[in-house]
Amino acid sequence: MIFSMYKKIQIICMILVTGCHFVTYASPTNAPINDFPYALIAGGSKGIGYAIAEALAKRNYNLILIARHESSLKVAKQQLEKKYPIHVEILVKDLSFENTAQEITHWCIEKKIPLKMLCNVAGFGGTHDFLTLPLDSLRYMIRLNLESTVALSMSLLPLLEQNTPAYILNVASMAGFAPIPVKNVYSASKSAVVSFSYSLRYQLKDKHISVSCLCPGPVFTKPSIEKDTKEKLGWFGEQLAVPVNRVGEIAVSKTLKGRMIIVPGTWAKISSGVIRWLPQRWGTVMYYKLGG
Ligand SMILES: NC(=O)c1ccc[n+]([C@@H]2O[C@H](COP(=O)([O-])OP(=O)(O)OC[C@H]3O[C@@H](n4cnc5c(N)ncnc54)[C@H](OP(=O)(O)O)[C@@H]3O)[C@@H](O)[C@H]2O)c1
Repeated sequence: MIFSMYKKIQIICMILVTGCHFVTYASPTNAPINDFPYALIAGGSKGIGYAIAEALAKRNYNLILIARHESSLKVAKQQLEKKYPIHVEILVKDLSFENTAQEITHWCIEKKIPLKMLCNVAGFGGTHDFLTLPLDSLRYMIRLNLESTVALSMSLLPLLEQNTPAYILNVASMAGFAPIPVKNVYSASKSAVVSFSYSLRYQLKDKHISVSCLCPGPVFTKPSIEKDTKEKLGWFGEQLAVPVNRVGEIAVSKTLKGRMIIVPGTWAKISSGVIRWLPQRWGTVMYYKLGG
């Protein structure tokens, strides 16, 4: 009798011990890896998003990178973790889907992520005349460029509020400063991102969350952008373009300084100053004459 009770107690102890080990090993990513804050970069596997990720990694931010393709996310994670003493989480998600922002937010809450910066980078433009594009493609553009920026900003706001001073960096474009006939919906969506960022900045001022809006000119992240820019603007297009790493560095340093509109590059700054000062109908004509 005493022997069987002893046996039972031994079995219960074993289950408890094994159970404890199971809990410990089942959630290694919940354990604190370092004390660095986190930045979430929607569209962080390539191009400007990756450059922003690297500029943040240099400043000791852990990162959450989001994109549709796992392969490029894995490469980005590997490169950044090799170069910097940070931790990179990757999430394979399509930001144009209605529920994505909520799914990302639930994931962050579950993982107890100390989120200090949100960067809404992913966007879609293309070089085709908008009149030749199917309506589905234009709807996708609006969902990705505008709706996902709004949805992520709103749903992640409570997490940012817990880690103030905090930052939101929305990526618009110089194309958001005036209507561009050929890129009609693209420039309209980017203009909406600029306007949304201004208002949000004002609303979040007292919560110590700074909102910035990056408005780059051409950045040669793809051969098609380089070809299109050089065809339409020639020598001036080359002067306007800023290397992608430089764009990432400027975007992060100015966001951390609390700047609202960020335009990398001297020529791009001068041009956008002129475009913003012109009446919109003149800007529209100017873009049209330049082939945009
Ligand atoms: N490059 C320029 O000349 C330029 C100029 C002004 C403004 N911008 C703006 O800057 C931003 C970045 O441009 P970029 O040239 O760096 O673009 P990019 O090189 O094509 O990179 C876009 C990033 O977003 C991700 N992405 C795209 N669609 C997505 C979706 N539906 N869901 C989740 N992730 C998605 C991509 O990964 P996956 O493909 O794996 O999803 C990638 O990580 C855009 O908002 C663009 O409008 C660019």
